[in-house]
Amino acid sequence: MTDWTDGYISDIEYGPGFYAEQTPAHLDIVCLLRGIEPPVAKGEAFAYCELGCGVGQTALVVAAANPQADVWGFDFNPAHIARARLLARQGAVDNIRFEEDSFEQLADGERADLPLFDYITLHGVWSWVSLENRQHIVRFIDRYLKPGGLVYVSYNAQPGWSNAGPLQRLLRMGAGLSQARSDKRVLQALDLAQAFSEAGAISIPTEMVERLKKEKTEDAVAYLSHEYLNEHWSPCYHADVAGDMAHAKLNYVGTANLFENFPALSLRPEQLALIADMPSAIAETARDYFMTRTFRRDVFIRGARAIPPRRLEQRVGEAELQLVVPPHVLTREVSIPLGTASLNAPFYEPAFEALTKGSRTIAALRAAAPSTAEPREILGMLVGSRQAKTKLREPSEAERQSVRRFNQALLANSADLGRDLSSLAAVGLGTALSVRLLEMLVYEVIAEGTPEEEEAVTKAVRALLQQRDARLNFDPQPENEDAYDRMLRDNIGQVLKYGVPMWKAVGAI
Ligand SMILES: C[S@@+](CC[C@H](N)C(=O)[O-])C[C@H]1O[C@@H](n2cnc3c(N)ncnc32)[C@H](O)[C@@H]1O
Repeated sequence: MTDWTDGYISDIEYGPGFYAEQTPAHLDIVCLLRGIEPPVAKGEAFAYCELGCGVGQTALVVAAANPQADVWGFDFNPAHIARARLLARQGAVDNIRFEEDSFEQLADGERADLPLFDYITLHGVWSWVSLENRQHIVRFIDRYLKPGGLVYVSYNAQPGWSNAGPLQRLLRMGAGLSQARSDKRVLQALDLAQAFSEAGAISIPTEMVERLKKEKTEDAVAYLSHEYLNEHWSPCYHADVAGDMAHAKLNYVGTANLFENFPALSLRPEQLALIADMPSAIAETARDYFMTRTFRRDVFIRGARAIPPRRLEQRVGEAELQLVVPPHVLTREVSIPLGTASLNAPFYEPAFEALTKGSRTIAALRAAAPSTAEPREILGMLVGSRQAKTKLREPSEAERQSVRRFNQALLANSADLGRDLSSLAAVGLGTALSVRLLEMLVYEVIAEGTPEEEEAVTKAVRALLQQRDARLNFDPQPENEDAYDRMLRDNIGQVLKYGVPMWKAVGAI
């Protein structure tokens, strides 16, 4: 049999993960922050493609949370595609197709039934595959992206990774000494790297080896294998990626790390002065010398259409914000690339107050409170700090039922994998919310029909925990069983008070 892997790890599966930055809901915000027209208008149908989709969780969330979309996921690993299809079936998601194709096959047009796409995304792929495969990806984009369409590509960035090159090479060489499966080989290779570091190999960063050696879970070891053992692993400078994307007529728009689109939050004045007169691709690359970003999430557009300045404020003002954290967690102190920033009280205090009562447009928030903050700043700060998301639609009852079915399948899948973190697709938002173990359990029992009352839900959650032989971890640890029971009930009370109404407001249940 010929080797179909092209040097990419394929003997162990990549773990499931949802990445909100890949959703059109999030990518459209990047466009608005940069004053660029998103590929489609709010709520319109769109065609979406994920290249190298792994086991398909992100593409599935995009499909489940956007019933108007036509979603495609591609990967050359048959185990990934089979797993993705199974979850699509279990969750009854019918606006998605997963296909087993390599980038080369796709670029060559071997699949005759493909639509043109409004969004093409790839996460954790670009800097892990060969130069030829990157060229296939660009050829595919050139062939299948609509005019005005958007590309999201994430990659390991230089110069942030420059110290780790020798370690990656040693891990790959060390892994090559054994015939074992990749998860075993990566652990053996880490032992070797540690021994090298202790024996005086100064190019091996000791603290990085120690950190990697702490990764023990199955998912983490799968990640380590996929991160470090690929033959073509090579972190990239932004200018080179932008140069490659230019072959598909793509222009750089901005980054899916929302705060990084605000120069004053990312660089000090003397740093900004140094890059002020540079052409944009060079300036963007130069920023990485100051910010030491090891991972970039770039957004490109084929034919960037600037929103006329006189329309921009109105367009952003129409964005409707929905809180996604409980009121007592809201904060004006936010972490930004340069450290922390304090959002101004005269505007954000009343804005928080209004948002705790329900979703509001940015224009309405600005009309109700004095603001020197521009609409784009408000959008960037509240979504970038993960306290709000944009509400896209009021879901119908049928849409809620469909998304509930998908979420039940997703949570069952997470439970089978022993995960204590998962996502809930939200059809009102076009994306998903993160949920921790207790919230996952509460969702499961309510979706099964348990009345939304503290006593009934506590009883049902206890039964589920017992059935799965699982226990919740509280901080601080309860002293005895009575204390554990009280904490369980109190925490369930909080989820019922804040979590469940939020899930309803965003169309996650
Ligand atoms: C690190 S994983 C990322 C998966 C997923 N995007 C995520 O972030 O969870 C990279 C994926 O790219 C796929 N891949 C690598 N080379 C490929 C190729 N030449 N054609 C198609 N898929 C490829 C792998 O099978 C793998 O699922």
